Amino acid sequence: MRLKKVIILTAVLMCGIVKGQDDKKVLFTIDQNPVYNAEFIRVFEKNKDIVVEEDQKDFDDYFELFVDFRLKLKQARDLNLDTLTSYTSDLSKYREQLIQPYLQNPEATEKLVDEAYQRNLKSYYDNRAFYGAPPTIPHQIEEGGIGANACLKCHENGGFVDKLQAYTPVSPHPDKSNCVQCHVQVKTESFFLPSSWVKNHPPAIGNQALEGSPPIVPHSLQLRENCLSCHAGPSAVKEIRTTHPNRINCRQCHVINEKKTVDIGTFKREIK
Ligand code: HEC
Ligand code: HEC
Ligand code: HEC
Ligand code: HEC
Repeated sequence: MRLKKVIILTAVLMCGIVKGQDDKKVLFTIDQNPVYNAEFIRVFEKNKDIVVEEDQKDFDDYFELFVDFRLKLKQARDLNLDTLTSYTSDLSKYREQLIQPYLQNPEATEKLVDEAYQRNLKSYYDNRAFYGAPPTIPHQIEEGGIGANACLKCHENGGFVDKLQAYTPVSPHPDKSNCVQCHVQVKTESFFLPSSWVKNHPPAIGNQALEGSPPIVPHSLQLRENCLSCHAGPSAVKEIRTTHPNRINCRQCHVINEKKTVDIGTFKREIK
């Protein structure tokens, strides 16, 4: 403990002038092993926003904690705790866990998908007036923030949004910049009179020639050129999430259900 007192004394004298000094300067030493300014500043900056107790936010108090931490580290090394098998096996487990996602392993990616937040086809269709219609915006939008700049900061790459407790669906058409031309918020549920409106049916999935062969693409490709925006990633709908997002050329195996269309000529509305 005497060692600690000496360190704190020198440290208190120093810490007021730590900031702004050369990072490579030695802040204090423990048994001749130097601890540098840079390390302390890095740890302090990194933790100051997540620390809850007010007193730990204080530079001086934090410094005392930091010294304690370094002393404990030294003591642990002196006791050879870092060579214990329980420790080394834990460490290699962590390393293994960290490596997994970086390997191109679809099963590992599958496991990373947060099942609690997965979307399903029902809620996907519920948010559309009819099959193929632009989905409505199910969240608040910033005042005045209606264009691509406002929307694409989330919808270009996706990701989890705390406030909405959901993964952002990736826009399949980031080039269509006037988002609210087609996507609108639901302002009222009761404005319209009841009608006999029924939604058209979405096409069935699972249409495979043989078991194990690639299912056909049951939908048109209009606004749907970017397959991965809907078929991969944490926001992808559960039933249609692909097990193989890494096979770049999707249409090499999946063919489009080409229904014959009848040319109706120039469309003219019939006025009765
Ligand atoms: C802060 C990030 C964020 C911003 C900014 C944002 N969104 Fe979203 N958006 C989300 C999240 C998250 C969801 C999923 C919500 C859910 O599932 O409950 C979502 C859902 C949607 C959906 C529904 C998609 C579907 O498949 O049902 C549409 C449409 C949409 N947003 C459009 C927009 C538009 C247009 C803007 C710009 C005016 C915008 N969003 C701005 C995060 C954002
Ligand atoms: C020209 C009309 C139009 C514009 C402009 C437009 N969208 Fe869409 N959007 C659609 C339609 C239609 C769909 C439904 C596509 C489908 O289901 O095939 C859709 C689907 C989506 C989806 C759902 C993807 C999913 O997971 O199913 C998101 C998210 C989205 N749009 C975001 C945006 C954003 C963000 C913008 C602006 C940068 C934008 N859209 C501009 C028509 C539009
Ligand atoms: C806007 C989102 C979206 C985009 C983009 C999209 N799809 Fe789809 N896909 C769906 C939905 C939703 C279904 C379920 C059937 C439906 O509603 O059309 C589906 C169904 C499928 C199926 C059938 C899956 C099964 O199990 O039977 C295949 C295959 C498929 N899509 C391939 C593709 C390919 C290839 C592309 C790119 C050229 C693509 N999709 C782009 C939303 C999308
Ligand atoms: C080399 C051929 C091949 C390529 C390329 C390919 N797929 Fe598939 N896909 C298949 C086969 C085969 C199945 C059926 C798997 C089964 O039934 O077990 C399948 C199934 C699917 C399904 C149904 C769900 C699932 O994973 O079983 C979806 C959705 C899908 N593929 C989307 C895509 C998308 C999107 C791409 C492009 C990134 C793509 N596929 C590229 C062969 C391919």
